[in-house]
Amino acid sequence: MDSGIHSRDRGIADPPMTALCTRTGNRAKLKDMNISGNTIFIPGATSGIGLALALALRAKGNTVIIGGRRTDLLDRIAAENPGLGTVRIDTTDAASIEAAAKQVLARHPGLNVLITMAGIMRIEDWRRPESFLASAEEVVTTNVLGPIRLIAAFVEHLQTRPGATIVTVSSGLAFAPLRVTPSYNASKAAIHMLSESLRLQLDGTGVQVVELEPPSVRTALLPGQEESEFAMPLEEFVAEVVELLETQPDAKEIQVERVKFLRYGEARGDYEQVVAMLNAADPHGN
Ligand SMILES: NC(=O)c1ccc[n+]([C@@H]2O[C@H](COP(=O)([O-])OP(=O)(O)OC[C@H]3O[C@@H](n4cnc5c(N)ncnc54)[C@H](OP(=O)(O)O)[C@@H]3O)[C@@H](O)[C@H]2O)c1
Repeated sequence: MDSGIHSRDRGIADPPMTALCTRTGNRAKLKDMNISGNTIFIPGATSGIGLALALALRAKGNTVIIGGRRTDLLDRIAAENPGLGTVRIDTTDAASIEAAAKQVLARHPGLNVLITMAGIMRIEDWRRPESFLASAEEVVTTNVLGPIRLIAAFVEHLQTRPGATIVTVSSGLAFAPLRVTPSYNASKAAIHMLSESLRLQLDGTGVQVVELEPPSVRTALLPGQEESEFAMPLEEFVAEVVELLETQPDAKEIQVERVKFLRYGEARGDYEQVVAMLNAADPHGN
C-alpha cells in the first residue's frame, strides 16, 4: 500500500499533525493550466487514479485519451464513455510507446497535456536478492523509464502547442520511505527530481511541468488497497485534485491535504517522526 498516515488513531486526523501539514504551501509562479479545453493523453488510465481523473477531466470539458495494456478494459471504458479515446500501450516497451504516441498524435494533433500515470508498486525484501531483484527491475522500468520514454515521445510536439503541460505522478513516498517498498519509493523520488529538473530545462518553452503527489489512495495498486482504511477514497482524492487544478492553476505540485504530512516532514523538521509513524501505521510494515 502506498501509505500516508491516515489511521483513525493517528495521522491526518490528529490535530498536531494537521497543524504541521499546513505550514508549508506549494505555490509557484507558473502559467495557468486551464481546467478545460485541453486534449489530454493519460497512459495508465484503465483503472484507479488514471481512470477516475480521466473521467473527471472529461466532465470538465477536455478531450481525453486513455492508455493501458488491458484492452478488455479499454474497450469496456470506451463503450461506456462515447467519445473517450483509447490506445493500447505498454510503457515498459519502447516500441509500444512510440507506436502509441504516433497513433495519438495522428488522431489528436491538438494534444497539449501528457499525464504519465502508469505505475506499479511491489513489496520487496532486500535481504534476499531472489525476492527483490526482478521486482526492482520491473518497478524502475515501469515507473522511471516509462515516463522518461513517454516524455521523449511527446516533448517536441508539446513545445508546438499553446498551454502545453506534462503532469508527472510521484507519491508521498517520494518524500518519506515505506520500509516494504524500497524500489517504489526510490522510483517516485526519481520522478520528483526529474520533474524539478525538467521544469528548469523547459522554462521558456511554454511547456509547464506539474507533479501530482498522491497520498495512499484506494486503488488496486497493491492487493487489498481498495478496501484499506489507511487509504483515501478515490472519489475524494480526485475531487480534491480537480479542485486544486481549478483553484491553484499555478501550482507546480498538486498536493491534497493528506499528502502534506509526508511531503513536508523534512522541511518541518519532523522527518524521523513521520517515517516512524508511516511505517507503524502500514499494514505491510511487519
Ligand atoms: N493509489 C495510491 O495509493 C497511489 C499513491 C501515490 C502514487 N500513486 C501512483 O498513481 C499511479 C496510478 O496508480 P493507481 O493507484 O491508480 O493504481 P492502478 O489502479 O493499479 O493503476 C495503474 C495504471 O497503470 C497502468 N499500467 C501499469 N503498468 C503499465 C504498463 N507497463 N503499461 C501501460 N500501463 C501500465 C495500468 O494499466 P494496465 O494494467 O491496463 O496496463 C493502470 O491503468 C501510479 O503511478 C502510482 O504509483 C498511487
